[in-house]
Amino acid sequence: MTKRIVVTGGAGYIGSHVCVELLAGGAAALVIDNFSNAHPEALNRIRELAPGDLEVLERDLADPAQSEDIISAVRDFNPDGAVHLAGLKAVGESVTEPARYYRTNLGAALTLIEALDAADAKNLVFSSSATVYGDRNESPVDESGLTGPTNPYGRTKLFIEDIVRDIAHSDNRWRIVNLRYFNPVGAHASGRIGEDPNDIPNNLFPFIAQVAVGRRDKLQVFGGDYPTPDGTGVRDYIHVTDLARGHVAALDYLAAKKTGGAVDINLGTGKGVSVLEAVAAFKRASNRDIPYDIAPRRDGDIAEIYANADLAQKLLGWRAEKTLEDMCADHWRWQSQNPEGYQS
Ligand code: UD1
Repeated sequence: MTKRIVVTGGAGYIGSHVCVELLAGGAAALVIDNFSNAHPEALNRIRELAPGDLEVLERDLADPAQSEDIISAVRDFNPDGAVHLAGLKAVGESVTEPARYYRTNLGAALTLIEALDAADAKNLVFSSSATVYGDRNESPVDESGLTGPTNPYGRTKLFIEDIVRDIAHSDNRWRIVNLRYFNPVGAHASGRIGEDPNDIPNNLFPFIAQVAVGRRDKLQVFGGDYPTPDGTGVRDYIHVTDLARGHVAALDYLAAKKTGGAVDINLGTGKGVSVLEAVAAFKRASNRDIPYDIAPRRDGDIAEIYANADLAQKLLGWRAEKTLEDMCADHWRWQSQNPEGYQS
């Protein structure tokens, strides 16, 4: 197990689960977060679930005026490596405010790279996304699939992948993994940490969960006429705890790796699930009604995408273990015990 890890965006949905898995495995973590889309209460919950060495630096990685401070704090922490999750992630917002997305996501990544360089800690796991594949591939899609994201958010992910590939190429002491997540859902099995969207959720699971708990009237199913078995969109949903463990496995892989370089690895289950299948599973798990309408397709959506996750198994010895039932049960436990998220 790699020992001292910087986790940017460590108070967020995925970051909080990564911290729990790291701390539970005996690692020390330095969270860097500006809480723009995360709640400080998440840190208390992380401490409760996995007591250990957790430090927190409230800073904005994308603000040049704060970079000196961040670089020296990272150097003082004396890390072995980092998991980089900090960034903006709303697809629609990225279309209306592209400059903010490019400045924030690319700026944050560059500051972290500079800090790791200064600290001589050149192991990096980057939170990328299956969104880099766009709509150009047949599923299951493996890491050799064509890239071509369809919105600015997705392009920030691909650009950062390109940047870290250039960095790895320039200096063979860098060891980097780009983890291409499919659709992270669910919550920690304790129900203590989970996804806490700021506004109306864009993504399917948080929306379903808010309908089930009575915060919203009904789900709009975007498209009932896709060329899929039941006409609704098919995705590869992955439990956030499996995803978090994938990060720990990636850090272990980098720590043991003899050579430098950057490698792209899918994290998914390899199984496609339709919107209606997800709704039915959530209904069973929550024992609540989930009313829905079939609505027009959402702009920019594709019919189907799911992973070939063989490379993660081969290189990291990792594969997703939790089922769709686990994802729904755990997501529901979090939602029902924290109906207003961390404000509850
Ligand atoms: C979206 C983003 C992707 C991002 C990912 C994060 C788009 C086009 N893509 O992926 O870049 O990395 O979230 O997890 O936004 N659906 C409904 N009703 C809803 C919400 C969603 O029917 O209210 C359907 C969608 O049409 C899709 C499926 O549910 O078929 C999953 O949607 P979502 O959770 O938003 O994820 P993606 O679109 O796959």
